This record gives sequence, C-alpha cells and structure tokens, in this order.
Amino acid sequence: MRKKIVAANWKMNLTLHEGADLVNELFKGMPTLTESKIVVIAPPYVNLHQTSSQLAGMMNVHLGAQNCHHEAAGAYTGEISAAMLQSAEVAYVIVGHSERREYCKEDDATIAKKVNQALAHGLNVIFCCGEPLEIRDADTQNQYVESQIKAGLFHLGEERLDNIVIAYEPIWAIGTGRTASTTQAQDMHKHIRSVIAAQYDAHVADAMPILYGGSCKPSNAAELFACADVDGGLIGGASLKAGEFLGIIEAMVAAN
Ligand code: 13P
Repeated sequence: MRKKIVAANWKMNLTLHEGADLVNELFKGMPTLTESKIVVIAPPYVNLHQTSSQLAGMMNVHLGAQNCHHEAAGAYTGEISAAMLQSAEVAYVIVGHSERREYCKEDDATIAKKVNQALAHGLNVIFCCGEPLEIRDADTQNQYVESQIKAGLFHLGEERLDNIVIAYEPIWAIGTGRTASTTQAQDMHKHIRSVIAAQYDAHVADAMPILYGGSCKPSNAAELFACADVDGGLIGGASLKAGEFLGIIEAMVAAN
C-alpha cells in the first residue's frame, strides 16, 4: 500500500517561539497516524533542531527541510548541505519548489543535483513540479510537468525511487485561494503516474506517493484526497494554523 502524506511547508514564516507553539498545538490535537499515513513538518532551517526535539514524542510525524544545496560542501556562504540536514535528523527535503525555481533561479540541472545530494545522504525527496497559468491556459500542462519530472528524476535508477515523493503544485493555485478542481488534480496525478510507469514500471509508479499542493485547506482536502491518484498534500498557508493543519491531517486519516 502506498503512503499517504500530509506535509507542512512553513516557507519563510514563524519565529522560533511561534514555531514551538504551533508544534505544541499540533501535538495536542494530532490524530493517530500509522506508517502508511504520515505527517511531515518542514520549518525554516533555524527551527529544525527545536522542531526535531519536539517531534521526538510524536509517532509517524517526520522532520522536513525546505531546500538543500546542490553541492556536497564548500565555499557557499549561507547555504545548507544535505549532510547537515541528515545530521539534524531531517528525513524529508523539499526540492524544486516553484518559489525557488522562480526567485532563486533554480534550473532543472541544479534541481537534479539537489535530488542526488539528498538521496546520497539518506533523505527522502519531496520533488515539486507544476505549471504556471499561461501553460494551463494553453492546455500544455501535461508536457510541461512531464519535462520537469524527466529532467529532475529520470537519471535515477529504479531502486532510488522508493525515496521519492512527487508534489504537484500548479503555480496558479499556490497562495491564491484558487484550488485545482478535483478533476484537474486527478487528471494530472494520473498523468504523472503514467509518466513514471512508462520510464520505470507500473509497480514503481503504483508505490509512489503523489501529493497535491496549492490552496489546500480543511474544506477541500477531503475531496482532493478522495481522488484515486492524490495521496495527500503539500500545505503552505494552512499549515501555519494548528486547527487548519489538523483538519487537513484528519482528512488524510479518513481517506481510503
Ligand atoms: P499554499 O497552500 O499556501 O497555496 O502553498 C502551497 C505550497 O506552495 C506548498 O509548498
């Protein structure tokens, strides 16, 4: 059975104290999770150590990071390596988020190197893909997302795919309040799974969690997670409020 995952991407939000309070609130309300229904929390780097200690008492809630550098180590002032994340007990790292592609000019080649660094250091990768509005309007989103996946993942051998989660985040839905419809989400997730099956095999594609991200909230999580190929969500804004994030987690726990 493939995993269902709800992952929080706090982005550049919350101070240390605010982050600690939020995790305490989550702790109080967290429903029972299992190894196949898990939560990931990806705070800013400075919160990692603190969040790691707080998560020690929580079953099946894992620590995530929002990025890692594409080189192993060296003179890269201000950057954080995959080895550092591993030493901070990070289990998942978000790679290729559209905000980093846009604002930090991360290209496909850099993203592929980040994937390699993360896997080489025992981290699971949440690999983000998703199209801008003009691509959706031109109805070429399938080709666009397929090319992101090819460039970022297809150099990997099949055995590495166990540690990959894909997050489909249409850019026009991120932070806009405009969620993809269940049909749009399901169609793209099915397409992504067929792209993985064609390159690897159906077994690998079946086992891969594919998350949806983009204005996911308690009011739409249940219908999104009910889609056959939607295995959970990567949550931005709604992950910053305990009540909302717990509502989304509950929708995942209730989903078949
Ligand atoms: P929102 O949930 O705020 O739309 O953000 C989604 C996202 O980018 C998660 O990585």
